[in-house]
Amino acid sequence: MPSKPPIFSAKHVSMTFGHGKKICHAVRDVSFDIADGAIVSVVGGSGCGKSVLAKIMLGLYKPTLGNFQYQGHPITNQRDHWNEVQSVFQDPFSCFNQFFTIRSQLKDAFGILKNKPAKSEIDDRVDAALRAVNVQPTEIVGKYPFELSGGQMQRMLLARIFALRPKVLVADEPTSMVDACVRANILDYLMKLKQELGMTIVFVTHDIGLAYYVSDQIFIMHEGRIVESGIPDAVALKPKHPVTIQLIDDIPDIHKDWIKR
Ligand SMILES: Nc1ncnc2c1ncn2[C@@H]1O[C@H](COP(=O)(O)OP(=O)(O)OP(=O)(O)O)[C@@H](O)[C@H]1O
Ligand SMILES: [Mg+2]
Repeated sequence: MPSKPPIFSAKHVSMTFGHGKKICHAVRDVSFDIADGAIVSVVGGSGCGKSVLAKIMLGLYKPTLGNFQYQGHPITNQRDHWNEVQSVFQDPFSCFNQFFTIRSQLKDAFGILKNKPAKSEIDDRVDAALRAVNVQPTEIVGKYPFELSGGQMQRMLLARIFALRPKVLVADEPTSMVDACVRANILDYLMKLKQELGMTIVFVTHDIGLAYYVSDQIFIMHEGRIVESGIPDAVALKPKHPVTIQLIDDIPDIHKDWIKR
């Protein structure tokens, strides 16, 4: 039997913006495969190209150079792609319309799916998704996004993912607006998505401690390149690249003990 193609496959992928003196090499010659069902973390400092790489995975950018494939094919139709590959971004408020209730937006999100479930199933799936992120459905009845905190909204984004059940989730700093305790919860929800739904997850973060906690594989990015990659024990416990060593030094004290060296 032929083996399954990877979820994402990048071969010498580069992405530049601008021209001449103003050229910006956001992603430089990266190559990797991401296996079906894996949690892969992309870790690096600000401006190293993480979000641009995430947007290539979402089909929002087409690489300037190289070959990028989803399940063995280039991304040609964005709508088809978003049927299977969805995102959670840094700012949850930008993903919800302030003028509609959260529940109605969670239900409307199903409009993106090719095979939209029946109304009653949508209601059930929204309720189950809210419970999956520890929110009682009654708590948000009639509530608008501006009535919730940043951390609660980030959970609403994750609830949307639980409800829609995409094949792949690209999560770009989903824990940026929450305190350490809620952050650990969100990471647990991500692992629940993987365990219960077999989702492939690409998790973008500054924090190699979080990456170590959730991932099957870690990519370290610096100035657009992947400078080190491997299983968490290899990358976080036996770092080779100076950038990786610096990232470990930068882990917030609050969960430094996640990495036991
Ligand atoms: N649309 C764009 N046009 C021009 N330059 C861009 C564009 N998007 C990103 N860049 C540049 O590409 C580089 C990588 O940006 P990116 O957003 O991927 O960084 P990042 O690693 O996600 O950083 P952060 O951790 O701060 O979110 C930066 O120098 C940024 O200024
Ligand atoms: Mg970013």
